[in-house]
Amino acid sequence: MMKNGGGGGGGGVASPIVVLSVVFAASIAIVFVLGYFSDRANGFGSFYSGSEAELKIPRVELVTAAARTRNDESRAVLSSEFSSKFKPTVRRRANNKLEQGLARARAAIRKAASIRNKSVIITKNDILSSAIYWNPSAFLQSYKEMERRFKIYVYQEGEPPIVHDGPCKDIYTSEGRFIHEMEHGNNKFRTSNAQAAHVYFMPFSVTWMVKYLYKPNTYDLTPLKVFASDYVKLISTKHPFWNRTQGADHFMLSCHDWAPHASRGDAFLYNTSIRVLCNANSSEGFNPQKDVSLPEIHLYGGIVNPKLISPPPSNTSRPYLAFFAGGIHGSIRPILLKHWKDRDSDLHIYEYLPKDQDYYDSMLRSKFCLCPSGYEVASPRIVEAIYAECIPVILSDHYVLPFSDVLRWDAFSIQVDISEIPRLKEILLAVSEDKYMRLKEGLRAVRRHFVLNQPVERFDMFHTILHSVWLRRLNLRAR
Ligand SMILES: *[C@@H]1O[C@H](CO)[C@@H](O)[C@H](O)[C@H]1NC(C)=O
Ligand SMILES: *[C@@H]1O[C@H](CO)[C@@H](O)[C@H](O)[C@H]1NC(C)=O
Ligand SMILES: *[C@@H]1O[C@H](CO)[C@@H](O)[C@H](O)[C@H]1NC(C)=O
Ligand SMILES: *[C@@H]1O[C@H](CO)[C@@H](O)[C@H](O)[C@H]1NC(C)=O
Ligand SMILES: *[C@@H]1O[C@H](CO)[C@@H](O)[C@H](O)[C@H]1NC(C)=O
Repeated sequence: MMKNGGGGGGGGVASPIVVLSVVFAASIAIVFVLGYFSDRANGFGSFYSGSEAELKIPRVELVTAAARTRNDESRAVLSSEFSSKFKPTVRRRANNKLEQGLARARAAIRKAASIRNKSVIITKNDILSSAIYWNPSAFLQSYKEMERRFKIYVYQEGEPPIVHDGPCKDIYTSEGRFIHEMEHGNNKFRTSNAQAAHVYFMPFSVTWMVKYLYKPNTYDLTPLKVFASDYVKLISTKHPFWNRTQGADHFMLSCHDWAPHASRGDAFLYNTSIRVLCNANSSEGFNPQKDVSLPEIHLYGGIVNPKLISPPPSNTSRPYLAFFAGGIHGSIRPILLKHWKDRDSDLHIYEYLPKDQDYYDSMLRSKFCLCPSGYEVASPRIVEAIYAECIPVILSDHYVLPFSDVLRWDAFSIQVDISEIPRLKEILLAVSEDKYMRLKEGLRAVRRHFVLNQPVERFDMFHTILHSVWLRRLNLRAR
């Protein structure tokens, strides 16, 4: 069921306490700022994509003017099938100054979005390639507003290792690196003044819960749920913030396959809070309106393989059409391997990579890198392919791609429907040289958003994750 079996013994697991039945009271206020990131010319955009083929995420109507009445606001969510589940009730009597700042940020983003400048945006030394964003001006403005204003409070409750720590190498790197940055980094987003925060971070690690609380081979996830439930109970009793919004301005972050299950420990954590997850499976409760898809990065020993740090020049020949090597996990890979393993000398598709071949060299020698889902939707191959400038071919169902709130994945990747796997070679051969070069330029441009830096740098993965959280916070408006 998961990539890394749980190790260690059980820490003290408290008895299950179910925090339920807190009644929603006040009114809903959702301002679809995210809609402005879509690139539809007529101001009527889908929440996530311009490409109908992209995933099966329900479209959300964009409220063309700022929502002024409650009717407008409810209309903003009516067209979404998630609307029934997503009812964050925001009752932040609140810090008016904070809310006014957010209102100004929304206005500035709306204004920038309407410019719809197609050209490359240059800020100081930064060049943002406009091709990879739904709306480059909206993104840049929103990013700047985040830098100017966004404040995060990190709860201090809980003890390491399960809280305030996380894995920083191997498959769940993105979880630990984010938690460590929030705990120890020198970024300017963390505030110790909880009253002045826009969002509240619960720095527990589901990966460490699995390591320390889960009993191997039992497949009993109760201890994970109990931990999450107890944590919410603790912070919501000790502090006033959770109850103000039923957790809607709180977030958790985890790359573990089982993080969605752990979050079921508290109904509001699951339904209302912002969950930043690698396992962003929209048919398992991942709700892109409030949840954030986290890239999965596999760093052996905590570092990027040197071969991927500076890929060869763009004109270096790539003799393989496509490459994949990986275990037969989940339901998609068996189909891929059945059709293409040992079938065609252009498609290098393996279950086990031959001993005389190197994984990363193979990526660097391929034009397309196949990224099928395994036991869960996310795959570290996507980020490796980005690093290797090998066009990712996404083979998944119900996967909400990372940062698809701002990034146009069709500018740097290809999505192939599972039913089309038998035609894979034909589809890849049909990509023109021109289009291939454009996708590759897209990959170079998007790389910065998938890079982990220490210390963190502008527009890198840490900041792009924060930006996704910031967008979701902008979508909430306290009354
Ligand atoms: C959470 O969502 C589920 C499924 O939509 C629903 O059954 C449940 O009542 C919700 N719980 C709360 C507290 O909103
Ligand atoms: C955006 O377009 C305007 C003209 O509409 C132009 O003056 C401006 O330089 C452009 N901005 C960028 C950043 O390209
Ligand atoms: C928040 O609500 C819960 C459940 O109603 C309650 O037990 C808790 O005391 C409340 N917290 C605060 C700080 O009032
Ligand atoms: C690739 O381009 C560089 C300069 O841009 C040139 O020096 C080199 O010869 C080219 N290599 C190939 C294989 O075409
Ligand atoms: C996504 O969720 C659906 C519904 O639970 C499940 O059938 C599917 O296997 C999941 N996808 C992956 C790759 O785990």
